[in-house]
Amino acid sequence: MSTVWQRIARAQAGDDYATVYADRFRAIAAGGGDVHGEAALVAELLAPPASVLDAGCGTGRVGARLHELGYDVVGCDVDAAMVAVARDEVPDVEWHVADLAGLALGRRFDLVLLAGNVLPLLEPGTLTAAARSLADHVAPGGALVTGFGLDAAHLPGDCPVLALADVDAAFAAVGLEPTAHWAGWDRAPYDDGGYVVASYRPRGDTPSPPPTAGG
Ligand SMILES: C[S@@+](CC[C@H](N)C(=O)[O-])C[C@H]1O[C@@H](n2cnc3c(N)ncnc32)[C@H](O)[C@@H]1O
Repeated sequence: MSTVWQRIARAQAGDDYATVYADRFRAIAAGGGDVHGEAALVAELLAPPASVLDAGCGTGRVGARLHELGYDVVGCDVDAAMVAVARDEVPDVEWHVADLAGLALGRRFDLVLLAGNVLPLLEPGTLTAAARSLADHVAPGGALVTGFGLDAAHLPGDCPVLALADVDAAFAAVGLEPTAHWAGWDRAPYDDGGYVVASYRPRGDTPSPPPTAGG
């Protein structure tokens, strides 16, 4: 049985969708484009060697960059073909083939990151279960950050649209309170547009200041 992502990715790129996905970002980078906006935001929020769970890591685009920057990275994705590319690229990172709904890695992370429309691409009806297991992987004092499209123009194929209010509610129900809504990974203020980057922290935690320049 195919996942939502596999159905959309195969329709767009064929059976070799994982390699096509990785190659697309390689081509953008080779052309001078910035493919590391998510990692740059992580670096603004916390300094290496903080631990980061790249949840829905795909081919490891973000996790590989964070590993390069000195973070303690673990990646997981339900799609074995996507994870195979990540393992091939960066063998010394721990990459798991695992479903976020029911994830149980047995450890918590300073940051749980979901980049690249992971939440709307979850199987229908699994947001609550995924939110619960993601919350179980956030360390006290840690955070969860996710970025995703809020309309068809910002989502791949016929990916279902997920409302920001529903995501906020799903995380609030498992003890993760929203701390910020931004319009992009550059932390521009959210403008009711079609893309959001949202940050959450465990209820009761006090916000920690961002790292100063140089550490
Ligand atoms: C568009 S890709 C983004 C990959 C990567 N985060 C990036 O930004 O390059 C979305 C990924 O979410 C993954 N995904 C969707 N539902 C998932 C689930 N329930 N558990 C784990 N991964 C999931 C897909 O398999 C796919 O690799």
